[in-house]
Amino acid sequence: MLNQRSMTFLFLAAYKTMTDDAIQAYADAHSEPEPPLLHALWRETHLQLLMPRMATGHWQGRLLSMFSHLLKPIRVLEIGTFTGYATLCLERVSLHVGDARDVLLTLVGEVWDLVFIDADKINNGRYFELVVRQVRPGGLLIVDNVLWGGKALLDYPLKANDHDTKAVRAFNEQVRTDSRVVPLLLPVRDGLLLLRRV
Ligand SMILES: C[S@@+](CC[C@H](N)C(=O)[O-])C[C@H]1O[C@@H](n2cnc3c(N)ncnc32)[C@H](O)[C@@H]1O
Repeated sequence: MLNQRSMTFLFLAAYKTMTDDAIQAYADAHSEPEPPLLHALWRETHLQLLMPRMATGHWQGRLLSMFSHLLKPIRVLEIGTFTGYATLCLERVSLHVGDARDVLLTLVGEVWDLVFIDADKINNGRYFELVVRQVRPGGLLIVDNVLWGGKALLDYPLKANDHDTKAVRAFNEQVRTDSRVVPLLLPVRDGLLLLRRV
């Protein structure tokens, strides 16, 4: 039989789930509507591809679009494109096809105003190191999935062969004390890490 304490806990758990969903729905409804092109892209991504949840989606897409409008970037780099949802939110993206580890080596002369790192998480640290010197002072790096479904948190039980989680944790720690950037982790969706270039 449930006692008062466990009932309170159950109520709080149910309330939290309900509030998270309800708050996200409220945030969606009170943000700029999804442009028709992006809505069509989202639909096609879900109809045609495996793992459609990799696409940025409406609300986070509006957040990226907001950053882009505020920053007015001339040169934007997205690492990890998938179906291009975030690409269309960021605008002004130069498209390069290939393994990002190789492609980035061909872009050494560029100066970036905005960089969105959203490819294979195991290489977050490598991508960061390859581009950070090329981000102009005041520019912004945004790194997606830094919460990694909650596994980034140190009290989450880590499996020995979970190399992605180890990499996400290591990267989050690495940039926390990197004097070249000022970090702000936004706990939205799967975690967006903003890194303002000093
Ligand atoms: C999370 S999805 C990107 C989602 C996209 N940024 C968006 O918001 O809609 C990650 C993408 O990175 C690509 N990717 C993974 N490893 C890569 C690599 N080494 N070089 C280039 N792309 C890579 C995957 O194929 C996938 O398309």
